[in-house]
Amino acid sequence: MNAMPATLLIVYHSQSGASLQLAAAARRGARREPDTALCWRRAWDAGIDDLAACDGLLLVAAENSASLAGGMKDFLDRCFYPAQSLQLSKPYGLVVSCGNDGRNTSQQVQRIMRGIPMKLVAEPLVLRGEPDAAMQAACEELGQALAAGLGLGVF
Ligand SMILES: Cc1cc2nc3c(=O)[nH]c(=O)nc-3n(C[C@H](O)[C@H](O)[C@H](O)COP(=O)(O)O)c2cc1C
Repeated sequence: MNAMPATLLIVYHSQSGASLQLAAAARRGARREPDTALCWRRAWDAGIDDLAACDGLLLVAAENSASLAGGMKDFLDRCFYPAQSLQLSKPYGLVVSCGNDGRNTSQQVQRIMRGIPMKLVAEPLVLRGEPDAAMQAACEELGQALAAGLGLGVF
């Protein structure tokens, strides 16, 4: 009998569609690793059950007013204590879509995730401006790398 495949959970929040494009690119990359299952959720629809069920996580959201976009912040706020009490310690990656900065949001997410704790396993992508082909390719690569690492159990 085959073991259950590892699952990558992609959680995104997007107002204009920019973060959604980047999350979709990451999903395309992850799909290149057919031995890893995918769970795809809007942040508003995601919760602790998704986090508990996955083996690794990719967060994709924007910087708004120098901090993490509210929809994603809401997801992390809702999951923080339940994740701590379940002792979830899982690998994650991060994509920040932004206009011209994004650094504060990357730091903010890393602080929150250290508190759960979750383990950052790839350099966060801070992508400035409208998503172009190079940004989408970077997200594809990250999605594939996370899916491959989970499939191999290397994190
Ligand atoms: C209300 C608002 C505040 C923003 N604040 C920042 C900011 O502080 N720093 C930044 O680099 N970009 C900022 N931006 C730009 C967004 O991060 C950028 O357009 C991003 O790609 C939006 O992604 P989304 O529409 O998928 O959520 C802001 C955009 C909005 C609408």
